[in-house]
Amino acid sequence: MPATKKLRAAKAAAIRHDVKDLSQAAEGQLRIEWAAREMPVTRLIAERFRRQRPLAGLRVAACLHVTTETANLALALQAGGAELVLCASNPLSTQDDVAAALVALHQIPVYARKGEDNATYYRHINQALDCAPHLTMDDGADLVATLHKGRKELLPGVLGGTEETTTGVVRLRSLAAAGRLRYPIIAVNEADTKHLFDNRYGTGQSTLDGITRATNVLWAGKRVVVAGYGWCGRGVALRARGMGAQVIVTEIAPIPALEAVMDGFQVMPMIEAARVGDIFITVTGGVNAINIEHLQAMKDGAILANSGHFNVEINIKALDDLAERKRRVRDLVDEYTLPGGRRIHLLADGRLVNLAAAEGHPASVMDMSFANQALAAEHLAKSRGQLEPKVYPVPKELDQEVGTLKLRALGVAIDTLTPEQRRYLGSWEGGT
Ligand code: ADE
Repeated sequence: MPATKKLRAAKAAAIRHDVKDLSQAAEGQLRIEWAAREMPVTRLIAERFRRQRPLAGLRVAACLHVTTETANLALALQAGGAELVLCASNPLSTQDDVAAALVALHQIPVYARKGEDNATYYRHINQALDCAPHLTMDDGADLVATLHKGRKELLPGVLGGTEETTTGVVRLRSLAAAGRLRYPIIAVNEADTKHLFDNRYGTGQSTLDGITRATNVLWAGKRVVVAGYGWCGRGVALRARGMGAQVIVTEIAPIPALEAVMDGFQVMPMIEAARVGDIFITVTGGVNAINIEHLQAMKDGAILANSGHFNVEINIKALDDLAERKRRVRDLVDEYTLPGGRRIHLLADGRLVNLAAAEGHPASVMDMSFANQALAAEHLAKSRGQLEPKVYPVPKELDQEVGTLKLRALGVAIDTLTPEQRRYLGSWEGGT
């Protein structure tokens, strides 16, 4: 083994980790650098962090999808002085080469293996928590829930946390409403520069990417049923239409349903959509959007995929119970044969199809999400001791800063208000 490789292997051995294969590190590093090209805002923040070290001395336990984009966030936090430990926020989303690179080439402890079972997933979360974090970073709130349920002794040492996704924010609000949240958490998902771009354009593109990679299906002319018309559903519906599909939206709330109608989509109850759909995509954030009665109504050959955070949006147990036969027909594609011979295809065990079958959201949108994460961590460090244990929005000025930096990086200039325009907007006196 060449001397530098030996040195790296020795260093990696000293870093706590559980990853699949450290020999994939070089490959992971190339892909991390590829993503960095599209993450100029995160890079600028990393450069400032390297000079100012706003996270010096802080231990951070981060439970995020271990991807090339997350690696760039991890490097920015490390540049800011944080001692980071990373674990996966989903058993199927880890990019093993990236996990290897972070351990072997950047000395970041990582606990994540693609395809890990549930017990390993939670063992990894606990191993990340073993660092006794000052800050937590979560995507879906599994780390925060584990901390509040089973690792309460660590809570007094935590000064704050951040949450990346809609589902996690919903869970944290419920923890806060029960009076049980023990430290302040910033809901990164609620920044405009996060959900308007990551949830919409990121989920839209990466979901179709995942389904395409898993099935190689032609979208043109297909009837695609999108369950849920939040920001993710909007993105998925938009991109499916762009590929030539006829898109049907299902909803439980009147206003998003109305919006879907006026955006030009057909809207109907799932039981009607079930009879005509070719491809079903769930992005509701809820449970059993596709239930037994829908499975019973589906056509032969239907494809089911989920892009919501948890694998509970499709009733997989009902599908298992209904089926006479199940076989894996392609990577990440299970064919269930129902009585009478109808076949239903479930992708990626009903887990996030965009991360399990593709690479997750493209770097250009994760750039803004993760710039918000880095700035929120800095804000928590600066506000130490001043915040109540509540769920907070990202401060408006940080959201604006991310938007301004992204526009600048894209080479897009905008106008500024003239003094006359500013006066007009600030006064009530002018009228007809
Ligand atoms: N969530 C969705 N896409 C992601 C990505 N590429 N990296 C990290 N988290 C994600």
